[in-house]
Amino acid sequence: MLSAGLTNGLLTVEGQQWRTQRRALAPLFAPRTVANFAAPTIDAATALVDRLRACDGQIVDIAVEVTRVTLEVLERTMFSDGLGHDTEVIRVAMKHYFEAIGRLDPFDVLGVPAIVPRLSRWKVQPMLRLFEAAIDAIIAARRHRIAEDAARVPRDILTLLLEARDPDSGAALSEAEVRANILTFITAGHETTANCITWALYLLSQSSEWRSRVQAEAERELDGDIDGLSDRLVQTRAVIEEANRLYPSIAAISRAAIGPDELAGEWIRRGTMVVFEPYVLHRHRKLWREPDRFDPSRFLGEERAAIDRFAYLPFGAGPRLCIGAMLAMQEASIVIAVIMRNFILELAPGHAVWPQHRVTLRPAGGLPMIVRQR
Ligand code: HEM
Repeated sequence: MLSAGLTNGLLTVEGQQWRTQRRALAPLFAPRTVANFAAPTIDAATALVDRLRACDGQIVDIAVEVTRVTLEVLERTMFSDGLGHDTEVIRVAMKHYFEAIGRLDPFDVLGVPAIVPRLSRWKVQPMLRLFEAAIDAIIAARRHRIAEDAARVPRDILTLLLEARDPDSGAALSEAEVRANILTFITAGHETTANCITWALYLLSQSSEWRSRVQAEAERELDGDIDGLSDRLVQTRAVIEEANRLYPSIAAISRAAIGPDELAGEWIRRGTMVVFEPYVLHRHRKLWREPDRFDPSRFLGEERAAIDRFAYLPFGAGPRLCIGAMLAMQEASIVIAVIMRNFILELAPGHAVWPQHRVTLRPAGGLPMIVRQR
């Protein structure tokens, strides 16, 4: 269902095309490249602080505000020339897009052949066209700049994407692949990371102990060297890992079997859809102590080291592991530290938080919180 808009992008391509793309795109997410994105992340987080200052004492939907930040981080790290369109328009279109594709079409349930058009997918078309037009304009503008003065072009993800080459063949990505991957990075990168930050802020609002720990760490570390900042936010990262355990943004991962196989005693036929659910795994009583309790200390020290690799899958596992995981962790830790240093966020009275699973797992009805300056 997802591939409707993301055909030719890393998330949906298969086989040799995936191998070639993954190798060509790896340098875009290498530690050194990701480290360069810490400064633009602080800028976007600081812009959020300015917006929230104007709302002192008021109720704000933190899910909306955080989504705005993650889109801004993408804008600053990928396209430092800007998204070319109004960021807010894209954010709203993206939300509708996810809502539309996150619903199962009755035709899918009834097994109607894919060749029959789905009403739900028609609804997505205008939004896809909006993204595609925005993205084409961005690529064209950048190619123009590279042609004019390559030395002064920003070294952001867009430039790296246009320069990406398969290490073996030296082949560049096709025009369709460049566009699909930009769309993929926006779709795969912004709502997932926003949910992760949103859930962490909600959980922090419920624990004075961890609030104090994260605040103290933010005060100690944020003014220090930007190099290695995210790695020094140890307590904050533990909170994020715990949020990713309790509310994994990708709560279910699926595969279609390419051939017959046996899995845990079950016979799997070719074409069978196999779904595994990090949400369930992450709260399994046999794998976790007090599974429903928010306790980030399980992600610190020896206890962290003892977690089974396959008991904790917020970013998946195996060759299709999330390519943006390091970027997401860096972004979430910096944004949360900046927010916690400046504000106390308290859940709006009477609001019940409940997870809602569309394509990603997010709080139903957003996250209304009272914002107070510290
Ligand atoms: C907290 C934030 C994030 C979460 C929870 C997350 C989660 C995941 C998961 C579970 C997968 C594997 C899907 C599967 O196996 O079918 C995945 C793949 C992927 N993610 Fe993320 N992701 C996050 C952030 C990002 C960011 C920031 C980017 C890029 C800017 C990104 C780009 C991708 C891409 C391109 C893939 C496909 C990789 C491949 O198939 O080779 N993600 N992500």
